[in-house]
Amino acid sequence: MLAIAVLAAGKGSRMNSTLPKVLHSLAGKTLIKRVLSSYQHLKPEKEFIIVGHQAKKIQQSLNSHQSIKFIFQQPQNGTGHAVQQLIPQLTNFKGELIVLNGDVPLLTGLSLENLLSQHRKTGAGVTFLSARLSSPTGYGRVVTDSTGRVDKIIEESDCNDIERKNNLTNAGVYCFNWEKLSEVLGGLSDLNSQKELYLTDAIKEIPDAYHLEVDEPQEVQGINNRDQLAECESFMQNKMRKYWMSRGVSFIDPKSCTLSEESIFGIDVIVEPQTHFRGKCVIGNNCLIGPGVQIKDSHIGNDVKIIHSVIDNADIENDISIGPFAHLRPKSYINNNVKIGNFVEIKNSNIGQGSKINHLSYIGDSFLGNKVNIGAGTITANYDGIKKSKTIIGNQSNTGANSVLVAPITIGANVTIGAGSTITKNIENNSLAVERSKLKIKAHWKNNH
Ligand code: UD1
Ligand code: MG
Repeated sequence: MLAIAVLAAGKGSRMNSTLPKVLHSLAGKTLIKRVLSSYQHLKPEKEFIIVGHQAKKIQQSLNSHQSIKFIFQQPQNGTGHAVQQLIPQLTNFKGELIVLNGDVPLLTGLSLENLLSQHRKTGAGVTFLSARLSSPTGYGRVVTDSTGRVDKIIEESDCNDIERKNNLTNAGVYCFNWEKLSEVLGGLSDLNSQKELYLTDAIKEIPDAYHLEVDEPQEVQGINNRDQLAECESFMQNKMRKYWMSRGVSFIDPKSCTLSEESIFGIDVIVEPQTHFRGKCVIGNNCLIGPGVQIKDSHIGNDVKIIHSVIDNADIENDISIGPFAHLRPKSYINNNVKIGNFVEIKNSNIGQGSKINHLSYIGDSFLGNKVNIGAGTITANYDGIKKSKTIIGNQSNTGANSVLVAPITIGANVTIGAGSTITKNIENNSLAVERSKLKIKAHWKNNH
């Protein structure tokens, strides 16, 4: 039987935050969710999260995870005290208990599998992951005997000068034989510099303690402060960019661009500086994106150019040019061969094939047919102060500069709207519609004053 417990009750005071540490985000996903996804494939029979500081917030953030049992630790008297809370939960339990620190988010499923299989193979009392670090500051140091078996772990604050030089560190990822751990768990002492019950003190009491060194130390980086959070973010970003570069995406200035794990790219995509992808983005082939673009939860087809623009929840087909300074808001559907130019905002609208919206427009709650030309400054007035209404524009219609189309309204196909018109009635196919006050010219007006 396998049980897994994640420790997430601590205050995380070194973050200096009103948010619990494990709810901070790394590449768009909270630390705690990352830890949970690292072990799902092991299919544990029991799953616990130890919560304490701001417990409710953590529970709420995970309320879709039905299989988790939340255990409350009050006060938060150290990692050993946190695991003691499991004693009543595991009274007749036989098997392994994997304990994970909630602030070690980059752990891979493979390392956990290796840990579990080595532990089962050797029949050890406990096996835990370790890492050799060039700067081990802040971590517990692993002391081994001449055979490589673990003697003890000494926390940084309890180390003397010689012990502090040891760079073999405890990663905070343990696989215990539960029966052996439960024999020593009650006897932990708080006679240490932090006056806490350390889980790491249990190691020296358990016979047959082993460590397994990870190949990639970054994988077990703990996050105790914002500096370490930023280090992990940049590690992940670098890894994602390298992956997509190996699959045919060019980044002109890689470090200035950020990606999300759910985003996927075609080949021959060029990403210019200061460009960011959030959530689930699907980008086709041969696109030129950036500089200065942010795209969130959107689909972009092939041969699309986007410059200095913000795109959120939009669906953009092929051979399209967007920007500079366009804002595509949720439910914008842009068909093939469309051009969206400077300072154009689009929301909840369909823009038909070959249409052009080149300058200074707002198109909201609208359906535009094919080859529509929207003149500079055209606005769909979709909101009367109470409700939103729809604008429909037929194929091959043109609106003149500064037209206002007051919705609900239907403009037929092949219609021309004169510049400066405010249109409040439906217009039939093939019509010209002009709505302007009569031009008055008073000759020599200046001289008469
Ligand atoms: C811990 C280990 C250290 C290891 C490092 C790896 C101990 C005593 N030390 O130190 O050997 O090198 O992790 O990252 O375990 N927590 C609780 N209840 C508490 C205290 C903490 O649930 O009362 C949780 C925290 O929320 C956190 C985890 O335990 O997720 C680790 O606590 P933290 O204070 O970050 O321990 P470190 O000082 O990093
Ligand atoms: Mg920590």
